[in-house]
Amino acid sequence: MIIYKAKNYQDMSRKAANILSAQIIMKPDCVLGLATGSSPVGAYQQLIEWYKKGDLDFCRVTSVNLDEYKGLGPDSDQSYRYFMNSNLFDHVNIDISHTFIPNGLELDTKKACCEYNEVIAQVGGIDIQLLGLGNNGHIGFNEPGVAFERETHCVDLTESTIEANKRFFASEADVPRQAYTMGIKNIMQAKKILLIVSGKSKAQALKEALYGPITPLLPASVLQLHSDLTVVADEEALSLIDK
Ligand code: GLP
Repeated sequence: MIIYKAKNYQDMSRKAANILSAQIIMKPDCVLGLATGSSPVGAYQQLIEWYKKGDLDFCRVTSVNLDEYKGLGPDSDQSYRYFMNSNLFDHVNIDISHTFIPNGLELDTKKACCEYNEVIAQVGGIDIQLLGLGNNGHIGFNEPGVAFERETHCVDLTESTIEANKRFFASEADVPRQAYTMGIKNIMQAKKILLIVSGKSKAQALKEALYGPITPLLPASVLQLHSDLTVVADEEALSLIDK
Protein backbone atom coordinates (compact mmCIF):
# COMPACT_ATOMS: atom_id res chain seq x y z
CA MET A 1 0.00 0.00 0.00
CA ILE A 2 1.22 3.48 -0.86
CA ILE A 3 -0.26 6.47 0.95
CA TYR A 4 0.15 9.94 -0.52
CA LYS A 5 -0.62 12.72 1.88
CA ALA A 6 -2.24 15.72 0.23
CA LYS A 7 -2.54 19.18 1.74
CA ASN A 8 -6.21 19.59 0.93
CA TYR A 9 -8.96 18.54 -1.49
CA GLN A 10 -7.38 20.35 -4.43
CA ASP A 11 -4.00 18.78 -3.85
CA MET A 12 -5.63 15.34 -3.44
CA SER A 13 -7.48 15.82 -6.72
CA ARG A 14 -4.34 16.79 -8.60
CA LYS A 15 -2.38 13.82 -7.25
CA ALA A 16 -5.22 11.44 -8.10
CA ALA A 17 -5.53 12.90 -11.59
CA ASN A 18 -1.80 12.40 -12.06
CA ILE A 19 -2.14 8.70 -11.27
CA LEU A 20 -5.15 8.29 -13.58
CA SER A 21 -3.45 10.16 -16.40
CA ALA A 22 -0.31 8.03 -15.99
CA GLN A 23 -2.54 4.99 -16.51
CA ILE A 24 -4.03 6.48 -19.68
CA ILE A 25 -0.63 7.46 -21.05
CA MET A 26 0.97 4.08 -20.29
CA LYS A 27 -2.01 2.13 -21.65
CA PRO A 28 -4.14 4.23 -24.02
CA ASP A 29 -6.79 1.48 -24.33
CA CYS A 30 -7.09 1.02 -20.59
CA VAL A 31 -10.26 0.31 -18.63
CA LEU A 32 -10.89 2.90 -15.94
CA GLY A 33 -13.17 2.00 -13.07
CA LEU A 34 -14.78 5.31 -12.14
CA ALA A 35 -16.65 6.66 -9.14
CA THR A 36 -19.16 9.38 -8.33
CA GLY A 37 -19.72 11.56 -5.27
CA SER A 38 -17.91 14.76 -4.39
CA SER A 39 -14.51 13.11 -3.88
CA PRO A 40 -13.61 12.56 -7.56
CA VAL A 41 -15.03 15.81 -9.00
CA GLY A 42 -11.76 17.74 -8.62
CA ALA A 43 -9.74 14.93 -10.21
CA TYR A 44 -12.15 14.86 -13.16
CA GLN A 45 -11.80 18.64 -13.56
CA GLN A 46 -8.04 18.26 -13.65
CA LEU A 47 -8.23 15.49 -16.25
CA ILE A 48 -10.49 17.70 -18.40
CA GLU A 49 -7.97 20.53 -18.13
CA TRP A 50 -5.11 18.30 -19.23
CA TYR A 51 -7.23 16.91 -22.06
CA LYS A 52 -7.99 20.45 -23.27
CA LYS A 53 -4.29 21.28 -23.21
CA GLY A 54 -3.67 18.28 -25.44
CA ASP A 55 -1.83 16.25 -22.81
CA LEU A 56 -4.39 13.45 -22.56
CA ASP A 57 -6.29 11.41 -25.11
CA PHE A 58 -9.35 9.39 -24.08
CA CYS A 59 -10.26 8.09 -27.54
CA ARG A 60 -9.34 4.48 -26.75
CA VAL A 61 -10.30 4.50 -23.08
CA THR A 62 -13.17 2.39 -21.75
CA SER A 63 -14.83 3.12 -18.42
CA VAL A 64 -16.99 1.15 -16.04
CA ASN A 65 -18.62 2.92 -13.12
CA LEU A 66 -19.16 1.49 -9.70
CA ASP A 67 -22.83 2.06 -9.17
CA GLU A 68 -26.17 3.60 -10.07
CA TYR A 69 -29.40 4.33 -8.24
CA LYS A 70 -32.11 1.83 -9.06
CA GLY A 71 -34.94 3.62 -10.82
CA LEU A 72 -32.93 6.57 -12.13
CA GLY A 73 -32.02 6.94 -15.80
CA PRO A 74 -29.66 9.20 -17.77
CA ASP A 75 -32.24 11.99 -17.95
CA SER A 76 -32.51 12.30 -14.20
CA ASP A 77 -29.96 14.85 -13.04
CA GLN A 78 -29.39 12.84 -9.86
CA SER A 79 -28.44 9.70 -11.72
CA TYR A 80 -24.81 8.67 -11.79
CA ARG A 81 -24.97 8.48 -15.61
CA TYR A 82 -25.94 12.14 -15.65
CA PHE A 83 -23.16 12.90 -13.15
CA MET A 84 -20.51 11.17 -15.23
CA ASN A 85 -21.63 12.80 -18.46
CA SER A 86 -21.66 16.26 -16.96
CA ASN A 87 -18.54 15.96 -14.80
CA LEU A 88 -16.29 14.15 -17.27
CA PHE A 89 -17.53 12.39 -20.40
CA ASP A 90 -19.10 15.46 -22.08
CA HIS A 91 -15.79 17.32 -21.82
CA VAL A 92 -13.27 14.79 -23.15
CA ASN A 93 -12.99 12.69 -26.29
CA ILE A 94 -14.07 9.40 -24.72
CA ASP A 95 -16.34 7.30 -26.94
CA ILE A 96 -19.60 7.41 -24.95
CA SER A 97 -20.50 3.91 -26.18
CA HIS A 98 -17.40 2.72 -24.30
CA THR A 99 -18.62 4.13 -20.99
CA PHE A 100 -20.61 1.74 -18.82
CA ILE A 101 -22.76 2.29 -15.77
CA PRO A 102 -25.28 -0.14 -14.26
CA ASN A 103 -28.67 0.34 -15.89
CA GLY A 104 -30.78 2.02 -13.22
CA LEU A 105 -33.86 1.80 -15.41
CA GLU A 106 -33.70 -2.01 -15.52
CA LEU A 107 -35.96 -2.95 -12.64
CA ASP A 108 -35.31 -6.66 -13.04
CA THR A 109 -32.50 -6.86 -10.52
CA LYS A 110 -31.11 -10.17 -11.65
CA LYS A 111 -30.98 -9.05 -15.26
CA ALA A 112 -29.38 -5.68 -14.46
CA CYS A 113 -26.70 -7.29 -12.29
CA CYS A 114 -25.89 -10.18 -14.64
CA GLU A 115 -25.61 -7.77 -17.56
CA TYR A 116 -23.21 -5.58 -15.64
CA ASN A 117 -20.97 -8.46 -14.59
CA GLU A 118 -20.95 -9.44 -18.24
CA VAL A 119 -19.88 -5.92 -19.25
CA ILE A 120 -16.96 -5.99 -16.81
CA ALA A 121 -15.87 -9.38 -18.14
CA GLN A 122 -16.22 -8.31 -21.76
CA VAL A 123 -14.09 -5.19 -21.40
CA GLY A 124 -11.38 -7.46 -20.03
CA GLY A 125 -11.39 -6.36 -16.40
CA ILE A 126 -10.50 -3.05 -14.79
CA ASP A 127 -6.98 -1.63 -14.97
CA ILE A 128 -7.45 0.94 -12.23
CA GLN A 129 -10.47 1.39 -9.99
CA LEU A 130 -11.02 4.82 -8.47
CA LEU A 131 -12.86 4.72 -5.14
CA GLY A 132 -14.26 7.25 -2.71
CA LEU A 133 -15.05 6.27 0.85
CA GLY A 134 -18.46 6.45 2.49
CA ASN A 135 -18.65 7.82 6.04
CA ASN A 136 -19.52 4.33 7.23
CA GLY A 137 -16.65 2.76 5.28
CA HIS A 138 -18.68 1.79 2.24
CA ILE A 139 -17.12 1.54 -1.21
CA GLY A 140 -19.30 1.87 -4.27
CA PHE A 141 -22.61 1.18 -2.55
CA ASN A 142 -21.32 -1.87 -0.68
CA GLU A 143 -22.79 -1.11 2.69
CA PRO A 144 -21.56 -2.63 5.96
CA GLY A 145 -22.39 -6.32 6.10
CA VAL A 146 -22.17 -7.08 2.38
CA ALA A 147 -20.27 -10.32 1.77
CA PHE A 148 -16.86 -9.81 0.18
CA GLU A 149 -17.51 -12.46 -2.46
CA ARG A 150 -20.49 -10.69 -4.01
CA GLU A 151 -20.44 -9.35 -7.55
CA THR A 152 -22.83 -6.71 -8.90
CA HIS A 153 -25.96 -6.68 -6.79
CA CYS A 154 -28.83 -4.50 -5.62
CA VAL A 155 -28.46 -2.92 -2.18
CA ASP A 156 -30.82 -1.30 0.27
CA LEU A 157 -29.08 1.94 1.17
CA THR A 158 -28.46 2.53 4.87
CA GLU A 159 -29.91 5.51 6.67
CA SER A 160 -26.43 7.00 7.02
CA THR A 161 -25.84 6.82 3.26
CA ILE A 162 -29.26 8.28 2.49
CA GLU A 163 -28.50 11.05 4.95
CA ALA A 164 -25.06 11.69 3.42
CA ASN A 165 -26.35 11.69 -0.15
CA LYS A 166 -29.50 13.73 0.37
CA ARG A 167 -27.50 16.90 -0.28
CA PHE A 168 -27.66 16.09 -3.98
CA PHE A 169 -31.47 15.79 -3.96
CA ALA A 170 -34.33 18.25 -3.41
CA SER A 171 -35.32 16.38 -0.25
CA GLU A 172 -34.45 13.22 1.65
CA ALA A 173 -37.66 11.63 0.38
CA ASP A 174 -36.30 11.89 -3.16
CA VAL A 175 -33.19 9.80 -2.45
CA PRO A 176 -33.72 6.35 -3.98
CA ARG A 177 -33.68 3.60 -1.36
CA GLN A 178 -31.91 1.08 -3.56
CA ALA A 179 -28.92 1.01 -5.88
CA TYR A 180 -27.03 -1.34 -8.12
CA THR A 181 -23.38 -1.61 -7.24
CA MET A 182 -20.35 -3.57 -8.31
CA GLY A 183 -19.61 -6.00 -5.53
CA ILE A 184 -16.44 -6.19 -3.48
CA LYS A 185 -15.32 -9.08 -5.66
CA ASN A 186 -15.52 -6.95 -8.83
CA ILE A 187 -13.63 -4.15 -7.10
CA MET A 188 -10.92 -6.44 -5.72
CA GLN A 189 -10.37 -7.94 -9.16
CA ALA A 190 -9.22 -4.57 -10.52
CA LYS A 191 -5.49 -4.61 -11.22
CA LYS A 192 -4.92 -1.39 -9.28
CA ILE A 193 -7.03 0.52 -6.81
CA LEU A 194 -6.88 4.24 -6.14
CA LEU A 195 -8.72 5.34 -3.00
CA ILE A 196 -9.23 9.07 -2.55
CA VAL A 197 -10.37 10.52 0.74
CA SER A 198 -10.85 14.09 1.89
CA GLY A 199 -12.10 15.74 5.04
CA LYS A 200 -12.39 15.15 8.78
CA SER A 201 -15.71 13.33 8.49
CA LYS A 202 -13.88 10.44 6.78
CA ALA A 203 -10.93 10.24 9.19
CA GLN A 204 -12.34 7.51 11.42
CA ALA A 205 -13.51 5.36 8.50
CA LEU A 206 -10.13 5.76 6.78
CA LYS A 207 -8.20 4.75 9.89
CA GLU A 208 -10.34 1.66 10.37
CA ALA A 209 -10.22 0.83 6.66
CA LEU A 210 -6.43 0.87 6.49
CA TYR A 211 -5.42 -0.34 9.94
CA GLY A 212 -8.47 -1.95 11.57
CA PRO A 213 -9.64 -5.53 11.33
CA ILE A 214 -10.64 -6.74 7.87
CA THR A 215 -14.37 -7.17 8.17
CA PRO A 216 -17.50 -6.83 6.02
CA LEU A 217 -18.75 -4.48 8.74
CA LEU A 218 -16.33 -1.92 7.27
CA PRO A 219 -16.31 -2.80 3.57
CA ALA A 220 -13.24 -0.69 2.68
CA SER A 221 -11.11 -2.74 5.10
CA VAL A 222 -10.94 -5.45 2.43
CA LEU A 223 -8.67 -3.13 0.44
CA GLN A 224 -5.84 -4.07 2.82
CA LEU A 225 -5.77 -7.37 0.96
CA HIS A 226 -5.29 -5.81 -2.47
CA SER A 227 -1.78 -6.11 -3.85
CA ASP A 228 -1.74 -2.71 -5.58
CA LEU A 229 -3.56 -0.16 -3.45
CA THR A 230 -2.75 3.54 -3.62
CA VAL A 231 -4.38 5.92 -1.18
CA VAL A 232 -4.44 9.66 -1.75
CA ALA A 233 -5.89 11.42 1.26
CA ASP A 234 -5.71 14.93 2.61
CA GLU A 235 -4.38 15.97 6.01
CA GLU A 236 -7.83 16.08 7.57
CA ALA A 237 -8.72 12.59 6.38
CA LEU A 238 -5.37 11.32 7.66
CA SER A 239 -5.61 13.22 10.95
CA LEU A 240 -6.31 10.12 13.04
CA ILE A 241 -3.48 8.16 11.44
CA ASP A 242 -0.66 10.72 11.23
CA LYS A 243 0.07 11.58 14.79
C1 GLP B 1 -21.70 7.46 -2.58
C2 GLP B 1 -21.09 6.66 -3.71
C3 GLP B 1 -19.72 6.18 -3.38
C4 GLP B 1 -18.90 7.35 -2.83
C5 GLP B 1 -19.52 7.83 -1.54
C6 GLP B 1 -18.77 8.97 -0.91
O1 GLP B 1 -22.38 6.68 -1.66
N1 GLP B 1 -21.88 5.54 -4.09
O2 GLP B 1 -19.10 5.65 -4.51
O3 GLP B 1 -17.58 6.95 -2.59
O4 GLP B 1 -20.82 8.28 -1.86
O5 GLP B 1 -19.17 10.15 -1.48
P1 GLP B 1 -18.44 11.52 -1.37
O6 GLP B 1 -17.25 11.43 -2.23
O7 GLP B 1 -19.44 12.51 -1.91
O8 GLP B 1 -18.14 11.74 0.06
